[in-house]
Amino acid sequence: MKKILVINGPNLNLLGEREPGVYGNNTYEDLCDSLMNKAEELQVKCEVFQSNHEGAIIDKLHSARVSYDGVVLNAGAFTHYSYALRDAISAIKIPVVEVHISNVFARDEFRKNSVIAPVCKGSISGFGFASYLMAMDALVKYYE
Ligand code: DQA
Repeated sequence: MKKILVINGPNLNLLGEREPGVYGNNTYEDLCDSLMNKAEELQVKCEVFQSNHEGAIIDKLHSARVSYDGVVLNAGAFTHYSYALRDAISAIKIPVVEVHISNVFARDEFRKNSVIAPVCKGSISGFGFASYLMAMDALVKYYE
């Protein structure tokens, strides 16, 4: 494992402000800092990307297929309905790990369904920012 791409989807740029009771008080910048610290600990290169636009996330996945060894993806609400995102994950060969800050199974009914889960390597939900760190560990283990 050499290079991990972390993709954050819609509204995750507002972490810290957005529903702190659900997503906590730490900001998107705090998340980026902890991802970079984890990358250093694991001795991997890491890029963090965030977009509120479905097409931009799909473009990023397409370009990742030749330049990254794995992806950690928090697709936000796209998780629950974006077949285009699901097809993009299916189209690339590198492993994608689905992550969520909140426990999506303990919330609204619509959040219990992930249309991307069947095409991801695995899913981690409910551990706050630690969900991402666990996914980075999992990707590194996958290549061992
Ligand atoms: C989320 C859960 C989604 O249901 C929601 O739409 C988000 C964030 C999470 O990280 O818990 O935007 O992916």
